Amino acid sequence: MYRSHNCGELRITDTTKEVTLSGWVQIGRDLGGLTFVDLRDRYGITQVVFNLEENENLCLAARKLGREFVIRVVGIVKERSNKNPNRPTGDIEVEALSLEVLNASKVPPFTIEEETDGGEDIRMNYRYLDIRRPNVRENLIFRSNLAVSTRAYLANQGFIEVETPVLIKSTPEGARDFVVPSRMNAGQFYALPQSPQTFKQILMIAGMDKYFQIVKCFRDEDLRADRQPEFTQIDCEMSFVTRDEVLDTFEGLTKHLFKQMLDVTLHDFPKMSYDEAMERYGSDKPDIRFGMEFVDLTKKAKGHGFPVFDNSEFVVGICAKGIAESYSNKDVKKLTEWMQRPQIGAKGLVYIKYLPGGQVKSSVGKFYSDEVLLSWKDDFDAEEGDIVFILCGEKEKTQKQTNELRLEMGRRLELMDPAEFKPLWVVDFPLLEWDEDSNRFHAMHHPFTAPKKEDEERMLLGDHETMKNLRADAYDLVINGVEIGGGSIRIHDRDLQSRNFDLLGFTKEEAEDQFGFLLGAFEYGAPPHGGIAFGFDRLCAVLNGQNSIRDFIAFPKNNQGRDMMIDSPSYIDDEQMKELSLKTTIEK
Ligand code: AMO
Repeated sequence: MYRSHNCGELRITDTTKEVTLSGWVQIGRDLGGLTFVDLRDRYGITQVVFNLEENENLCLAARKLGREFVIRVVGIVKERSNKNPNRPTGDIEVEALSLEVLNASKVPPFTIEEETDGGEDIRMNYRYLDIRRPNVRENLIFRSNLAVSTRAYLANQGFIEVETPVLIKSTPEGARDFVVPSRMNAGQFYALPQSPQTFKQILMIAGMDKYFQIVKCFRDEDLRADRQPEFTQIDCEMSFVTRDEVLDTFEGLTKHLFKQMLDVTLHDFPKMSYDEAMERYGSDKPDIRFGMEFVDLTKKAKGHGFPVFDNSEFVVGICAKGIAESYSNKDVKKLTEWMQRPQIGAKGLVYIKYLPGGQVKSSVGKFYSDEVLLSWKDDFDAEEGDIVFILCGEKEKTQKQTNELRLEMGRRLELMDPAEFKPLWVVDFPLLEWDEDSNRFHAMHHPFTAPKKEDEERMLLGDHETMKNLRADAYDLVINGVEIGGGSIRIHDRDLQSRNFDLLGFTKEEAEDQFGFLLGAFEYGAPPHGGIAFGFDRLCAVLNGQNSIRDFIAFPKNNQGRDMMIDSPSYIDDEQMKELSLKTTIEK
């Protein structure tokens, strides 16, 4: 028998028991007459003590144990004289009667503790050692519990989990596909699903009514802290539902998960249209934990002889509270430089400081009298001691830049409390986006999203300009500025779907070739349907107040899309290339 107990469960009530423990040596301490070993497994750490006087050989053997050796110990549970209140097992220790080394270990390349000395690369190389660290382990346990709770909740609501295939044909979700060559069909490729979108719609046509799946999706796109090339969705679809029924169901799921996992009660989620989110925050995923909302100054700022504002399509400001006096010219200069970095690309940053005693100081004081600048104070709900930052330029670009500034000021002023959760439904997205570069429309969500009922006719009959203003029955769930999920009511009518493919620039043949199966299925009684998918990795991270999803994925990829541990992607040998009818021009 390897163990009678795990390393996290012995308590004072177990004293005098003979127990067997197995685990890894966290650390050994030799104090002459006594040698202590902290023995660790998934469940915790138990102190084992070896007594030189009582068993010399055993104690000498214990002194030779290195970090991460795997051992089995038989011993007696004793009350500790100096208890460790920070450890659940801290009241006891196990006095060893026997010791067996089950496996030795090399010295690990970094310390296996919460605060480690290992950098990201080395930890990814040795992910199995990294996962032994309590914080990474806890994240994976959290993830597992979140999946169990999700399944239980959705099953209870009548959803059934259906697995959809991984070797499929391209589904356009806006990223590039990962493809897999087919050996049996020379020159042909499967695509890995960017999501199970078309399959879940087919399942609705097949009468499954309520589907869900916790499912891997694959997208070949630029990676960031909240993006991985393979990630997991809680993917769902429902038949005979309105938008609000979908939102209610998934608001229910979200509230349930927050209660179960964090004991946090979420209040009803507000809804905000895409247009309103853009006007107030310059973002379709606003962090509403703090205010600092946009104030449109376009009208008021023009006509005072300041050519930069006069020549701008859009002038917008935000107010940062209480820092007018502490923010020096140097601070403003640094912030301006931060805004001028190519990633953000602002041309400049104007400020107005509202100082005590009704004084005003501004970088555009030459063009605007104090009286004019003071008259803007109310627009910002500003008080003495506040600073207003103003940006200008082309509207969309300026909104984006001001969003970055707002978030940065939110961070600097510590306005984003990680323990606070502010969910928001963003609804009524535009259906289509005009792309100047490719001179065509793109689906803002995906090509299967329905226009709002009132826009259906305009979509079928309208001209090019009309198409830019169509609203989609699409929605995103945003929590603390993170897009957790997105979905829509779908088109279930063949003609409307064909029209959408037309607008998106597919020829009849291309549409038939790629989506003929779906268009065909629409002709056999497709019910009205809609759904949503949550990013499961993102949900894990947000629930834990963290930005990076990598910490919640057992074996994540780095920013170059590589799995460092298994060293993938990798070349395949010529034989395999030949078998797959692939040629290469790349020197290995
Ligand atoms: P969408 O493309 O909005 O919708 O994706 C749904 C959610 O998946 C998460 N997500 C990601 N998470 C990690 N890494 C990525 N690369 C990544 N890409 C997306 C986000 C996002 O909100 N089929 C539709 C859903 C539907 O219409 O029902 C879809 O996939 O949290």
